[in-house]
Amino acid sequence: MRVLAIESSCDETAVALFDGGSGELLAHRVHSQTDVHAEYGGVVPELAARDHMRRLPSLTRATLTDAGLGYDVIDAVAYTAGPGLAGALMTGAAFAKGIAASRGLPALGVNHLEGHILAPLLGDDPPAFPFLALLVSGGHSQLIEVREVGDYRLLGESIDDAIGEAFDKSAKLMGLGYPGGAALSRLAEQGDPTAVPFTRPMVNRPGLDLSFSGLKTAVANAIAAGHAHQDVAASFERTVIDTLVIKLTRALDQTGLDRLVVAGGVAANRPLRQRLVEMMADRRGAVHFPEIELCTDNAAMIALAGYRRLAAGERDAQPGFRVRARWP
Ligand code: KG4
Ligand code: ZN
Repeated sequence: MRVLAIESSCDETAVALFDGGSGELLAHRVHSQTDVHAEYGGVVPELAARDHMRRLPSLTRATLTDAGLGYDVIDAVAYTAGPGLAGALMTGAAFAKGIAASRGLPALGVNHLEGHILAPLLGDDPPAFPFLALLVSGGHSQLIEVREVGDYRLLGESIDDAIGEAFDKSAKLMGLGYPGGAALSRLAEQGDPTAVPFTRPMVNRPGLDLSFSGLKTAVANAIAAGHAHQDVAASFERTVIDTLVIKLTRALDQTGLDRLVVAGGVAANRPLRQRLVEMMADRRGAVHFPEIELCTDNAAMIALAGYRRLAAGERDAQPGFRVRARWP
């Protein structure tokens, strides 16, 4: 089964062609709208939807051309149905359902977060089930027990800002542009991670929930107090990573799991990857990351998640489409 997948939940337009039988990703393309939104300092939903609409047809043709294949090889269409920006989701869903309807193909709306969690299955070292997933993106920070595809238990999540959001807001305070997570991490390489003694949020409270809005405020205060930006960046990054290590240790102890998957845009963070590799080596467990380019939003992960469900017989019930801006 060859699955064409469309991702348009936020500010990346993405298309992938995946061969479920061989597990081979035949081609995938991502067009980032960063330039469209940069001058506004954040994603403008209406502009995002319009740009998806503008890009999807040519991006889809280009993806098929990369694979050396045509529309005739597609057996099913998967698309991100949520969570995300409603208008942005609708353009992708309408486009995907249009292709499916015109060619008489089955279609399935996929949960974007499930895509992120399953992205490491596309790599050379796919994790076995069950595993603990740490999903850290611009919109979400969650700890999830993953027993099988489709069998998830939310163990804890951020009660306010997502980690990527905290990175982005802190980066903005340092004048690093938007989205500034990766730029903040680069700046942190030149700083002293012990320079600013930030409190690690929520670690003294029981449970697995997270909180990052207080840390963001502490970053603003540290900058106002005159600390060098690179020191604030390094201390912030170290505090976030320390906090995650404490919570993950707790979650692994509690569930008895010895495999960890880290996914979402913040999984591209190199110091985080390094610390979690060390942590899992100490525990004699294993940690799996998606390929760096599959950490941030892409359609390959939507194709994989969609394929797994389509192969199990799932299909959209209705010919129209329904997107879910919120999809717990
Ligand atoms: O998964 P993603 O592409 O989009 C969402 O679904 O949110 O994640 C984007 C987030 C942004 O907040 C971005 O700043 C952050 O991931 N990010 C990073 C790094 N690369 C991307 N954060 C910290 N360090 C990085 N290297
Ligand atoms: Zn995402």
